[in-house]
Amino acid sequence: MTESKHHYDERSIETVYRVIYERRDMRHFLPAPVDPATLRRLLDAAHAAPSVGLSQPWRIVRITRTELRGRIYDLVQQERERTAEALDERGAEFLRLKVEGVKECGELLVVGVRDGGAKEIFGRRTLPETDVASTACAIQNLWLAARAEGLGLGWVSLFDPRALAELLGFPGDVRPIAVLCLGHVEQFYPAPMLALERWRQPRPLSELMCENHWPAQTPDGANGEAPMPREPV
Ligand SMILES: Cc1cc2nc3c(=O)[nH]c(=O)nc-3n(C[C@H](O)[C@H](O)[C@H](O)COP(=O)(O)O)c2cc1C
Repeated sequence: MTESKHHYDERSIETVYRVIYERRDMRHFLPAPVDPATLRRLLDAAHAAPSVGLSQPWRIVRITRTELRGRIYDLVQQERERTAEALDERGAEFLRLKVEGVKECGELLVVGVRDGGAKEIFGRRTLPETDVASTACAIQNLWLAARAEGLGLGWVSLFDPRALAELLGFPGDVRPIAVLCLGHVEQFYPAPMLALERWRQPRPLSELMCENHWPAQTPDGANGEAPMPREPV
């Protein structure tokens, strides 16, 4: 295979992979503000994301009122309790996990997805969820740029979307999908916090990939999921 003539220099390539592997979902923050120029760069990075049919369905609300932050925190706590109930025997263990940093983080952002119903948005006719996929791309851009800038970001999805939409006055065609906690951190977790806390272990790529056809299955599998083939890819 010939090397592409478009590749970056070695150090830049290394940096791209470094930020991908060192990005972490953060829940512990220092109570320090985020520099406004840095925040602007991060938001611009989010806004540079790919989107289905160039629809740019992300909508970003910066929360600056402390009282509003408190009400978002309350919504997250309500859903945290409901989640614990739904988890039955793992509920108490779940409640011991730190799953958000809403009150401590320097910046709080709520990201919504606008329903890209317009007919000229091609690529979403059979897959309306591409609106969410595009918005997730924007969040990932922000996440990676934040890590490179030395800031942590935590994606919180523990909330009732209708209640949050109502609280923030979202129109009917915009649905919140993320509360993002952004800010300075003491240190980045060396691995996913859920793995460090032994809540769940990540699966290797070889278990999640196959070639040409979905493989014939045996009905067992890690985490109760059907396994994919074991051959290395
Ligand atoms: C769509 C989405 C929603 C998430 N929601 C939450 C959440 O509500 N609370 C939380 O603690 N982590 C949440 N996470 C973070 C995941 O738990 C985390 O990405 C995963 O454990 C892997 O860890 P890492 O991001 O540090 O690699 C979310 C991540 C994604 C992509």
